[in-house]
Amino acid sequence: MDFVPSFGHRHRQCVAPAASMGKDEVLTQELGRLHDIPLYKSFVAGWPQVEAFQARHDDLLIATYPKSGTTWLSEILDAIYHDGDLEKCRRDAIYNRVPFLEMKAPGMLSGVEQLEKTPSPRLVKTHLPVHLLPASFQEKDCKVIYMARNAKDVVVSYYYFYQMAKIHPDPGTLSEFLQAFMDGKVAYGSWYKHVKGWWEKRHEKRLLYLFYEDMKKDPWREVQKILQFLGKEVAEETVARIFHHTSFQEMKKNPTANYETMPTTPMDHSLSPFMQKGISSDWANHFTVAQNERFDQHYQQHMAGSDLCFQLEA
Ligand code: PPS
Repeated sequence: MDFVPSFGHRHRQCVAPAASMGKDEVLTQELGRLHDIPLYKSFVAGWPQVEAFQARHDDLLIATYPKSGTTWLSEILDAIYHDGDLEKCRRDAIYNRVPFLEMKAPGMLSGVEQLEKTPSPRLVKTHLPVHLLPASFQEKDCKVIYMARNAKDVVVSYYYFYQMAKIHPDPGTLSEFLQAFMDGKVAYGSWYKHVKGWWEKRHEKRLLYLFYEDMKKDPWREVQKILQFLGKEVAEETVARIFHHTSFQEMKKNPTANYETMPTTPMDHSLSPFMQKGISSDWANHFTVAQNERFDQHYQQHMAGSDLCFQLEA
């Protein structure tokens, strides 16, 4: 593991070195590096525990590139795991119900520590690219659900997230952030490598590859795929209750799903809510014609030869 700071983003005001940070202090850091991806330095520091993580056979891994519908999928799965009992789904914040494997921040239990305390069957969140997944997930033959979202909506959602989640460096203008995204210089690195890396594994029987856009268009069909993959049968009225509970409108006002319970130091919702619009094609309201052309050209080069296709129009 190498550890190379700084990816050229401008600095936010940064008040303390990581070692002396308390949980109420600003967490902003330039990105470090974990193998071939830029990543938060505190996560890099916790990597030995993540690499040695002991998965259990009945763990279900929810894997995504950031801003691709992780929280939505997590809420759906937690509701399925609790047979649509909404009281149980509101037992805790989503980031405690579905611990974030590689998360490590000052003053908080790390994802690995949280998971060690979580009874089976566990739901586990990760944004790791497939080649960095801890070996025990493969050894224990765990099921994985991957959700991908089109790059243009991801970059817009990520831009706002960079502003509200203080662990990130200053994203600069959207144009600057777009360039950093295309260059793979944002946290978790290249979107292209991430979605293609997991796509190459899609024929493995313990992996289900889903798309955010499909879930928006036909959640009924997508949830049926999930139930079949999990080998679970759920009554139709329960599925209807799960749909309602996990709709954007319901999740946006649910404090156990919308991250509002996270202290304002790491996440400032007054700058941008965690759940902004939850729609497809919002990129069209943000990209200029020139940015769109630049992005399309780059996209075609980087997706050439791949049969992985995304829907860009809602
Ligand atoms: S994170 O921080 O990477 O875990 O974020 P993630 O949960 O992957 O993605 C956040 C985006 O998902 C949207 N979201 C939803 N869309 C539709 N329906 C539901 N129920 C839903 N829940 C979350 C959320 O609004 C973020 O997208 P944007 O485009 O920013 O609104």
